[in-house]
Amino acid sequence: MQERIIGGQFQQEDAPLESLRPQRLDDYIGQADVKENLRVYIQAAKMRQEALDHVLLYGPPGLGKTTLAMIIANELGVRLRITSGPAIERTGDLAAILTTLEPGDVLFIDEIHRLHRSVEEILYSAMEDYALDIVAGKGPTARSVRIDLPPFTLVGATTRAGSLSAPLRDRFGVVSHLNYYEIPDLQNIIQRAASILHVELNAEGSYEIAARSRGTPRVATRLLKRVRDFAQVNFEPCIDGRVACQSLECIGIDEKGLDEVDHKLLRGIIEMFAGGPVGIDTIAAAIGEEAETIEDVYEPYLLQIGFLQRTSRGRVVAEAAYSHFGIPFSGR
Ligand SMILES: Nc1ncnc2c1ncn2[C@@H]1O[C@H](COP(=O)(O)OP(=O)(O)O)[C@@H](O)[C@H]1O
Ligand SMILES: [Mg+2]
Repeated sequence: MQERIIGGQFQQEDAPLESLRPQRLDDYIGQADVKENLRVYIQAAKMRQEALDHVLLYGPPGLGKTTLAMIIANELGVRLRITSGPAIERTGDLAAILTTLEPGDVLFIDEIHRLHRSVEEILYSAMEDYALDIVAGKGPTARSVRIDLPPFTLVGATTRAGSLSAPLRDRFGVVSHLNYYEIPDLQNIIQRAASILHVELNAEGSYEIAARSRGTPRVATRLLKRVRDFAQVNFEPCIDGRVACQSLECIGIDEKGLDEVDHKLLRGIIEMFAGGPVGIDTIAAAIGEEAETIEDVYEPYLLQIGFLQRTSRGRVVAEAAYSHFGIPFSGR
């Protein structure tokens, strides 16, 4: 299988990256507004000896949502429980997690937009009143039982804030949007990772990697690891601009950080659909990728750099993408 550098599906590769995750707010690079506000809320909650209000983190994959959830628990000095929307199949599964929380604990629910509706509904009272309303028994003898829960903090992460139901979204006291990172922040992230991995890297080297990282720390650290492999087998003592460029070219990442799938997507729309507009499901089928992967992983960055546009009639490739590929743009 073709190795995917940017996809969300490469979970098994995340394990060795675990040590690269910053543990404290001070080590979390960039996202200044989000970070400084969280610092205040965390400190205030600690001073009042209360549970921190529920936090919703949203933004594209790889921007640091899981990392931030871990940092929040660390900074609060409480335990962290991790689960995800699709993993909680029945209300009983959620009840089992909630009833074992200790006061102040952080419960992290990744992909919270994928919670089952019935599970989501019991979360409402849990979040609002720290109480669990469950139905015991069946038929005429069924009755509703209320179980008190310890005060806790729910941290939810989602790539799609728009897919969250309004009642759920409204129960988060803190809603933080993570943005794509600027190149200098990415350079710092790459430099930090390099020193943890004992890799020699200079400023030109980190710049070349950062510029192709699609504003995304997860991509930045993965590219660094791949470039490190090339440097190692070629006996290059230091990753400078030249080593970084040559390695990235071998990996198949272009100057904009676009990989094979981005190319397939953009060129597919240009060549098969005259540049669009084309519906997401149609183009997904045409290039053999999942519509959800395109929407969550590939498209947000292409929209951000102005290569792709979303219109009511479908996706349209912008002129900037034509010139990137050296394809004449004849207008529409
Ligand atoms: N602000 C940051 N500073 C340093 N490293 C970061 C930062 N954000 C993310 N990372 C790195 O990027 C990787 C991906 O972050 P993660 O929290 O898993 O993203 P998400 O949960 O949003 O998909 C982590 O392993 C971490 O090493
Ligand atoms: Mg995550």
